[in-house]
Amino acid sequence: SPTLPTNKNFTKHCSLESGVWVTYKGGVYDITEFVAMHPGGNKILLAAGGALEPYWALYAVHQQDHVLEILSEYKIGVL
Ligand code: HEM
Repeated sequence: SPTLPTNKNFTKHCSLESGVWVTYKGGVYDITEFVAMHPGGNKILLAAGGALEPYWALYAVHQQDHVLEILSEYKIGVL
């Protein structure tokens, strides 16, 4: 039977091996390809499998249009 996109599966996408997915404001993003390009290095993996909001609240450097433009390239769905 096909694999349904449940939360259980979403939380599996939290490593470079399985793919790195995050959520932001109701959107789902597969950022696997971006991890190696992230200016903030591997800290990005702290958010793997969950929401970006708590981290971006701490690292305010992300509150810029050009950061959201990057994120938008990786959108794969909505919650
Ligand atoms: C910097 C993107 C997630 C920590 C940056 C910058 C971009 C970026 C474009 C450079 C901003 C600038 O200087 O104008 C992203 C994207 C993320 C993400 C697209 C998610 C898909 C995270 C997470 C953390 C984080 C989850 C922390 C847990 C940092 C830090 C910097 C940074 C510390 C500053 C690096 C420095 O200038 O030394 N990020 N980020 N990022 N990011 Fe992220």
